[in-house]
Amino acid sequence: MKNTFKVAVDGPAGSGKSSISKLAARRLGIKYIDSGAIYRAITLYFLEKSGGSFDSCDASLLGDSFSISQKFTEDGTTYTYLNERDVSNDIRSETVVKNISKISDNRQIREFVNSLLRRWAEEESVIMDGRDIGTVVFPDADVKLYIDASADVRADRRVKEYASMGKTVDVNDIKNQIIIRDDQDRSRGFGALKQADDAVYVDTSFLTKDEVLEKIVQIIKDNAKGI
Ligand code: CDP
Repeated sequence: MKNTFKVAVDGPAGSGKSSISKLAARRLGIKYIDSGAIYRAITLYFLEKSGGSFDSCDASLLGDSFSISQKFTEDGTTYTYLNERDVSNDIRSETVVKNISKISDNRQIREFVNSLLRRWAEEESVIMDGRDIGTVVFPDADVKLYIDASADVRADRRVKEYASMGKTVDVNDIKNQIIIRDDQDRSRGFGALKQADDAVYVDTSFLTKDEVLEKIVQIIKDNAKGI
């Protein structure tokens, strides 16, 4: 059997975990899975289905009327598909962010997503990022990382990210959204954001992307069997 390993990367919104995980995946020649994109796509699904607003969602719908997939290309881009439609850009909207906790707080939905993620990670080496990857999805991951940064730094990064998509946003609004989302992510009953006991903590507030990349690639090489 092939020697494979799993890297779990958790951390709060804007800590840089997705971009770093993608770069590390490319460097190591392994698959990257963006778990947040799945919660975002499910939120988009319920928003569209309800005509723009919903209070609760019926998780039993997911099995039949819903298909989701993700592709990680060689140039390091992730595409997310909802019922075969490319929703990679649509899932990044502020409306999705504002509604996402209705989805990510739902235990049935979390269980649905967790089994999807475990299936996608079967039989190959992967790096997966999210909130509960090292604690719930892969408690036995070979390497666990917890990527963090101060709320101010994270808000600045988000503003730049929006700017690169041609959108101007207010940094204070973004910071408030981040604080609200941190609180929602940390306080949910099941799958809350928290550092696993055996995760390596990396504060990226004062590090460049390259510095973070070198650091985590080294941690992965030191700890993953079969690399
Ligand atoms: O990119 P960013 O850090 O803003 O967020 P994301 O990773 O795309 O995740 C968006 C939201 O999905 C989070 O705020 C969580 O509410 C939820 N999520 C989760 O509950 N569990 C995960 N494993 C990943 C994301």
